[in-house]
Amino acid sequence: MASYRDEFPVVNERTYLISASLGPLSRRARAAAEEHLDLWGRLGPEELWFDHGLPALQRCRERFATLIGADVEEIAIVPSVSAGLSSLATCLDFEGRPKVVLTDMDFPTNHYVWRAQQRRGAKLDVVASPDGITMDATAVADRVDDETAIVNINRVLFESSWIMDLNPIVEAARAHGSYVVIDDFHGSGIVPIDVHKMDVDFLFSGALKWLCGGQGIAFMYCRRDLIEELESLVVGWFGTTDPFDFDRGSLRLRSDARRFETGTYTLPQAWTASAGLEIILEVGVDTIRSRNQELTRRVIAGVDDLSLELLSPRDDARRGGLVRCLIPGGREKAENTLHRLFERNVVLDSRNDALRISPHFFNNEADVDRCFEELGALL
Ligand SMILES: Cc1ncc(COP(=O)(O)O)c(C=O)c1O
Repeated sequence: MASYRDEFPVVNERTYLISASLGPLSRRARAAAEEHLDLWGRLGPEELWFDHGLPALQRCRERFATLIGADVEEIAIVPSVSAGLSSLATCLDFEGRPKVVLTDMDFPTNHYVWRAQQRRGAKLDVVASPDGITMDATAVADRVDDETAIVNINRVLFESSWIMDLNPIVEAARAHGSYVVIDDFHGSGIVPIDVHKMDVDFLFSGALKWLCGGQGIAFMYCRRDLIEELESLVVGWFGTTDPFDFDRGSLRLRSDARRFETGTYTLPQAWTASAGLEIILEVGVDTIRSRNQELTRRVIAGVDDLSLELLSPRDDARRGGLVRCLIPGGREKAENTLHRLFERNVVLDSRNDALRISPHFFNNEADVDRCFEELGALL
């Protein structure tokens, strides 16, 4: 692990503990970005796209598929989770099955996407967390019925890092003929998953956090046997069978998950995302997970030493990659503390009245200790 500190130069300059929000730039991703610029500087479109760009995008799909246990044909590149989920939502017919089950701990963009679908007849059934940290999977499963079109689940909750138990939810969905979609932005690359074993229908994630792949590129998994029955209202030429035929006479969507791809890709990000994914696969998600657990245990010890309130699970098995702790004094105090930490080269983030601390595999014990020394001095 120590050798990877040089791969991520920022960790030798600052105490960077916020990969849950933005994974830092690696030397490999920088070199990849520069390779793209160099090619763009020398080549015309046909050479850039066909010889380099499309293969770079395919490498991203392949690597993301490997990461989550999918086949490459089940992966689409989408501009963002919001865009991909919105596109999926247009495939659903809410007439017979109006219900969308989600939780009050899901990332707000999930709520916005499904709220917009209320205009098409969707009815939202939002399960409340008992404590703002945990979410009972059986309580979610119990809401699924024969009127449910889809259950929207965040596998790892973005605020508390609680890991959801997917099994009862998937079972309930199967029993009632509903779909299950996972927003895995806080899971992919940090908590192992096998989508085929979990039997989920759809999964979304982006490259910019734990995958250290940069912004502007996200991924959609669509279970193979569902692909051809889904016809999104959001389409574009790259989702069709022969985009370079320039045929205006028909709309023939691809038979793989790439039917969910639309217009011109954010091509430069294919280079950085594929470099980030390469590093994550090279280290291995199991290894990353156990290193993260060691470091987050140390974070929790630091929280306890400062007598701060822990707002994440203590149990290793239930805790994802980040630890959240309350900063007494409210939101303004938390934001102020965060900015004073930046001045001391400790990089975290804040959500309302809490700080989030999220070590990745290239962090070490000294990073965590330094974070708490500086935080202790400020409180
Ligand atoms: C769980 C979760 N879903 C979605 C998003 C945002 O997705 P996007 O900006 O790709 O639409 C975030 C971003 O922080 C997130 O934490």
